[in-house]
Amino acid sequence: MGKTSICVGLGKALSTMGNKVLLIDCDCLRSLDLLMGVTERMVYNFGDVIFGRCDAQQAVYENEGLSVITCPESYDNISDYSMTWLIKKYEQDYDYILLDAPAGIDRGLHLAVTVADRAIVVSTPDLVCVRSACTAGREIEKQGVDNIRLVINRVSKKDIVKGRLLNFDSVIDQTQIQLIGIVPEDPKIRLGSMGRSIYKKGQVSYKALTNIAKRIGGKSAALKV
Ligand SMILES: Nc1ncnc2c1ncn2[C@@H]1O[C@H](COP(=O)(O)OP(=O)(O)O)[C@@H](O)[C@H]1O
Ligand SMILES: [Mg+2]
Repeated sequence: MGKTSICVGLGKALSTMGNKVLLIDCDCLRSLDLLMGVTERMVYNFGDVIFGRCDAQQAVYENEGLSVITCPESYDNISDYSMTWLIKKYEQDYDYILLDAPAGIDRGLHLAVTVADRAIVVSTPDLVCVRSACTAGREIEKQGVDNIRLVINRVSKKDIVKGRLLNFDSVIDQTQIQLIGIVPEDPKIRLGSMGRSIYKKGQVSYKALTNIAKRIGGKSAALKV
């Protein structure tokens, strides 16, 4: 749990580090626009680009230095080929394109993985979420993406010590995915679902998201939260 929040937080961290970042919602339940605060202005989605109802730039909305494209309400008639065609329209203009995929075995996950060269699986440290993360990881691998990393989200050390959450080793052992970051439980991230910025200096998750962004860029950064 926390895929969309991590997608926005990471996008912001990468952009603060000087990268041009595009976020694409690949979950037809659509929440990226809400967390990005662009819902009021939104008219077009990537389905409109694919089916020629608007040009590529008309579907891009900007806020806080980030660009976002939303998902159509259904994936009907969106082929792997059209997804690849879509990404080609944008890839020259951005340093990173982050695709926010839905949980589990869903057409949206398939379409996102079709055009991805790496993947981040986000899991909270509990049995239910870890099982979904295992399934998603296997599915991504099956599609031929082998650069997969794990973010453990909503970590509360107190709850791990008390046995109310799984420890990091258990999550890594069960998912068998290499860890790229740990994001703490952060009440301010919850404000993201109210359209408020979820990446601000001084916030408990800020350092964690910055460190994940550094590691994505190939730099080393402490794993400690
Ligand atoms: N690190 C975190 N700390 C506190 N709340 C979080 C954190 N990550 C996500 N959340 C909250 O969990 C809920 C689900 O997050 P979301 O990013 O929409 O998950 P998903 O995309 O996996 O469905 C939201 O209310 C969000 O604010
Ligand atoms: Mg989501």
